[in-house]
Amino acid sequence: MNLRDTLNRPLRDLRISVTDRCNFRCTYCMPKEIFGSDYQFLRRDQILTFEEITRLARIFVAHGIRKIRLTGGEPLVRHDLPVLVSMLSAISPDLDLTLTTNGSILAKQARALKEAGLKRVSVSLDSLDDEIFKAMNDVDFPVWKVIEGMDAAAAAGLGPIKVNMVVKRGLNESSILPMARFFREKGYILRFIEYMDVGHTNGWRMDDVVSAKEIIKMIDAELPLEPADPNYRGEVAERWRYKDGSGEIGVIASVTQAFCRDCNRARLSAEGALYTCLFSVKGHDLRGLLRGGATDEDISQAIARLWGRRSDRYSELRSEKTVALPKVEMSHIGG
Ligand code: GTP
Ligand code: 5AD
Ligand code: SF4
Ligand code: SF4
Repeated sequence: MNLRDTLNRPLRDLRISVTDRCNFRCTYCMPKEIFGSDYQFLRRDQILTFEEITRLARIFVAHGIRKIRLTGGEPLVRHDLPVLVSMLSAISPDLDLTLTTNGSILAKQARALKEAGLKRVSVSLDSLDDEIFKAMNDVDFPVWKVIEGMDAAAAAGLGPIKVNMVVKRGLNESSILPMARFFREKGYILRFIEYMDVGHTNGWRMDDVVSAKEIIKMIDAELPLEPADPNYRGEVAERWRYKDGSGEIGVIASVTQAFCRDCNRARLSAEGALYTCLFSVKGHDLRGLLRGGATDEDISQAIARLWGRRSDRYSELRSEKTVALPKVEMSHIGG
């Protein structure tokens, strides 16, 4: 039941990637030079079916998972995603069932997702400036459509909406304050993410990271902030609230203030491999068990063994050597 890894961390949060495909080509995640027209995405028979995902999810929930987050690539490009949401929400009414999306096709699906039992969504948006946003998503996608998606989600009852902004030096620092002002006004919770060395295709350099400290200082100078307590132990974002009571923001400082100590997250790739860290080089194949006739008990024991052996704390150990490792891509395990 109550699993603990070698650093005494429980297993609470499962992030399930439902596809490795995405309709964006964010330069820091799926650069076009690598994810071009000849890139081999997973074939349909390689990715888990909704039944397989649900079976695994049920076993994970029995091991203490309380939150399931659907990710991608872009999860909404997987056909019939609301069907999966309804299968997962039937596992337990207490499950915190959420989704991280780029928002591009959210407006169309928000109501169906809510009706299927999705509780809330996080939407990624890196700038309010079309020129900057288009340079970052690299598919000429306009800002207004993402905002339309967020608003549709809020209207469907999928709030409070969280907005994720990756900050990369020299690219979108100028968008920090306009984003803060805009989403404070709207009442959505904006979180700034330090640019990370996930995968090994984005050419990450420490110089590109704008630290959470810098970001807070910049906003505080214009819109005074004070720290707020975490909502729960192991929360990824550090919370700050506006002193005038007009809302809150968060910073995700995984580079400058690693939070591995409380990391209770496991990640399942679309092809059914379990990753015990966002920066893992290799996953553990669960699909082979699913398709090889293993019983639920066999799978449950395999998960318990893997978690029991877990010792990951990549962000705490990051060095020049680790940055160069052939780590799994973000589009494969969804961040
Ligand atoms: P809620 O608190 O439920 O909203 O979830 P969350 O904060 O985990 O939200 P979300 O999944 O949107 O996470 C935001 C971003 O934080 C991710 O997209 C990643 O970029 C980063 N992140 C999340 N988990 C980890 C982690 O375990 N390690 C590192 N290094 N970064 C993470
Ligand atoms: N560093 C930080 N965040 C990233 N994301 C994707 N790649 C990176 C990276 N290298 C973010 C996305 C999205 C979430 C899934 O992860 O922008 O908000
Ligand atoms: Fe961008 Fe997210 Fe798609 Fe990666 S998965 S290219 S971060 S929208
Ligand atoms: Fe967890 Fe790995 Fe992120 Fe550390 S680097 S918080 S162990 S996912």
